[in-house]
Amino acid sequence: MEKNFEAVLIEKLEPIRGFFLAQAIFHFFSSGLFDSLAEKPKSVGTLAAEHRLNSDRLTAFMQYLGNENIVVFDGSIVQLTSSAREFGQYRPWYELLVGGYAETLLQISDTLCGAGFASRCDRLVGQGSCGISEYDAIPLVQNLLTRLPSAALEIIDLGCGDGRFAARILDGLPDSNGIGVDVSPPETSPHERLKIEQASALDYVQRLAPRLQSEPPSVVVVAFVLQELLGQAGRPTVVEFLRTLRVKGRFVAVVEVDYRPTDPRVMRHGLGRAYYNPYYLLHNLTAQRLAPIDFWEALFLEAGFRPIASGEVSFEIDSTGLEFGRLLSPY
Ligand SMILES: C[S@@+](CC[C@H](N)C(=O)[O-])C[C@H]1O[C@@H](n2cnc3c(N)ncnc32)[C@H](O)[C@@H]1O
Repeated sequence: MEKNFEAVLIEKLEPIRGFFLAQAIFHFFSSGLFDSLAEKPKSVGTLAAEHRLNSDRLTAFMQYLGNENIVVFDGSIVQLTSSAREFGQYRPWYELLVGGYAETLLQISDTLCGAGFASRCDRLVGQGSCGISEYDAIPLVQNLLTRLPSAALEIIDLGCGDGRFAARILDGLPDSNGIGVDVSPPETSPHERLKIEQASALDYVQRLAPRLQSEPPSVVVVAFVLQELLGQAGRPTVVEFLRTLRVKGRFVAVVEVDYRPTDPRVMRHGLGRAYYNPYYLLHNLTAQRLAPIDFWEALFLEAGFRPIASGEVSFEIDSTGLEFGRLLSPY
């Protein structure tokens, strides 16, 4: 046996440590324990009673988190460490990548055969994605919408996730109403001027089409959703989907992610390694298809739309330049 076996073993187990820790942090959030402890330190007994949990298992969970410097646990009282408090802001990334895709990762080997797509948790994908969008895609779309002639619009958010995206947009448009459509929508609307519908975006636009000529000016928002439709139904269907929305005075706001998995400028970037590398993989395993910007530009033109405004995400949030927005108008 080599002299440094143990040192190398520890190094090689680091990914497994990260695997456990990422799951534990996700469940720390989703169980409500993080929020509970963010209010004030509590005993395990109080936490167990408040959240109806088994106190022996909760003790073991807190011991684990204590050893990872997420909580300080003296055997009775638990409190968040300052480093754990900082994690709070990054919860949506855990909801999306761990909550949404943990089950996908268990299916990698089966899915590599190419026989079918891996499953995921749509609800947590939508929730995590909207949470991340609060930092990047929502300000991007808000900015694009300032280029429109009218401030009173109907916002039709297709693939609306938990509805927060449309809700934030409506916050800034006091005379507008909205509809959020998703295959896995929230039970209640997060905004009084936002109606929620459960439907596929493809079916919804077919039903919407006859009304498009007469209804008030609208913007259809498809943020990280054309990639879903492309994976589910293919390019010709996405072109047809956009053509259905091609009515004078209607606009489409698109947000997508440029697909550059072999570009070293992306893959050697910190966020490239931490986020986009897993993100690209997950899209290939599930029924989604990412594509390079040129692909999308050509598709928009073929569907009869031209971009009247373009946007990127703030460099403070994401300096990879991969996320892009286009405000499309029929030509
Ligand atoms: C990546 S999330 C994007 C959520 C939100 N638009 C955002 O920007 O954060 C994709 C959303 O599309 C939804 N979705 C997937 N396929 C759909 C379809 N065919 N019709 C409607 N919604 C769909 C998913 O349930 C999920 O909520």
